[in-house]
Amino acid sequence: MVKICCIGAGYVGGPTMAVIAFKCPAIEVAVVDISFARITAWNSDQLPIYEPGLEDIVKQCRGKNLFFSTEVEKHVSEADIIFVSVNTPTKTRGLGAGKAADLTYWESAARMIADVSKNDKIVVEKSTVPVKTAEAIEKILTHNSNGIKYQILSNPEFLAEGTAIQDLFNPDRILIGGRETPGGQKAIQALKEVYAHWVPEDRIICTNLWSAELSKLAANAFLAQRISSVNAMSALCEATGADVTQVSHAVGKDTRVGSKFLNASVGFGGSCFQKDILSLVYICECNGLKEVANYWKQVIQVNDYQKNRFVNRVVSSMFNTVSGKKIAILGFAFKKDTGDTRETPAIDVCKGLLGDNANLSIYDPQVTEDQIRKDLSMKKFDWDNPIHLQPMSPTVMKQLNVVWDAYAATKGAHGLCLLTEWDEFKTLDFKKIYDNMQKPAFVFDGRNIVDEQKLREIGFIVYSIGKPL
Ligand code: NAD
Ligand code: UGA
Repeated sequence: MVKICCIGAGYVGGPTMAVIAFKCPAIEVAVVDISFARITAWNSDQLPIYEPGLEDIVKQCRGKNLFFSTEVEKHVSEADIIFVSVNTPTKTRGLGAGKAADLTYWESAARMIADVSKNDKIVVEKSTVPVKTAEAIEKILTHNSNGIKYQILSNPEFLAEGTAIQDLFNPDRILIGGRETPGGQKAIQALKEVYAHWVPEDRIICTNLWSAELSKLAANAFLAQRISSVNAMSALCEATGADVTQVSHAVGKDTRVGSKFLNASVGFGGSCFQKDILSLVYICECNGLKEVANYWKQVIQVNDYQKNRFVNRVVSSMFNTVSGKKIAILGFAFKKDTGDTRETPAIDVCKGLLGDNANLSIYDPQVTEDQIRKDLSMKKFDWDNPIHLQPMSPTVMKQLNVVWDAYAATKGAHGLCLLTEWDEFKTLDFKKIYDNMQKPAFVFDGRNIVDEQKLREIGFIVYSIGKPL
């Protein structure tokens, strides 16, 4: 029986390993983490992450060939294949702060593997890492090897949150990079055999290590670039009377462009797009490629511009002041079908409105009050460094109210901001909401999900991204 161990039981490690266990009953999969709380949750009825379809799979495999444990060293030493899926956040201090990927967690995992291994291992980079990381990992492992042989593979993950299980069941591609030596090729084959249990062979791409590492950063940069492109267009649409949904539909119909990922929004969020582009920018700079670095930097700058533009629109529409006004925030997660708030645009929008003295009433179906308060107390990039948590100022505490219902959030409000495209927001009774709001009642749709015509007929003043006012 092949034994797999995955270090890091997060948004990637948990779902990915659950699907491997589900699809490969003859493989024993252990997911380990230093976080006791996370492992306890994985072993309970309340999983640590919300992801449609995940609970069902975990329940079917847990205790059979899928195990969650804090006994990191034991499972690592027993495994044949070790996936490393630890976090790789943006550095907050020192060389490259604000751009470079922080590989502290990765390095400590690699050193631990070297310490406890007693037989040859395949070590798989699952985390998103800077190109050439495998070389560093190889050095750490081989210089501490005690005769044990390691093969390093790069097998980046392309799942998106909210659709993780669907993406893992039916991936566009699986990418495996390895050394072009007989040992490297043998390791690639071993990992390929795991995925071949359910992924058609023509969707498994094998490359050299550096191509695999860089392809992951490139894929996220290309995806984010599409969003910044359409968001930049949305500003021009508002200035000219064009409608961004019509423009993106027309542009996306060109099969060379394609229609996916062209939805204008309040800005992209999530733990990876910004972090990975910043990492790419840093790598370009380190390689003396200033122009290339500046090109990709612009994707982030447009995203920041879009979030600011949204806040400015809210304040300027409401007679240039939101001071003391109640504003309902519907949706806090960075996208629908997840409770994840890492780098959610809602943080910047809420901070902007709080800065202008608004009173916020926030509702998200999957995000807890505790999480929202934490997010609004943190500095940029600090979400992966909980030690930097600032206590919330008493004034901001008072300005913030978190509720468990969209109707409660909007009751008595002057304005309503839609920041996450949750399905339940599409079917709200807007007449009822209007009747209970202050007048004039404003709707700022950051996701273009409402029927603005209908809302205008009810009496709302509506602002939708990239649409005529
Ligand atoms: P996460 O923070 O949810 O999970 C990482 C886990 O690793 C944490 O639970 C942490 O406690 C654990 N960990 C850290 N150091 C450890 C160690 N030395 N030993 C054991 N456990 C340790 O992160 P995530 O969202 O799962 O992302 C992991 C990696 O995957 C990142 O590099 C990210 O860029 C990449 N990625 C994420 C997504 C996504 O949708 N979240 C998608 C594709 C790729
Ligand atoms: C993204 C990629 O889609 C995954 O392929 C990748 O594996 C992952 O990053 C990662 O490396 O972490 P994720 O961030 O989970 O996945 O979610 P996306 O669906 O990509 O959405 C990212 C952000 O862009 C969200 O805030 C979303 O609302 C926004 N978005 C997306 C738009 O504003 N417009 C769009 O057309 C699409």
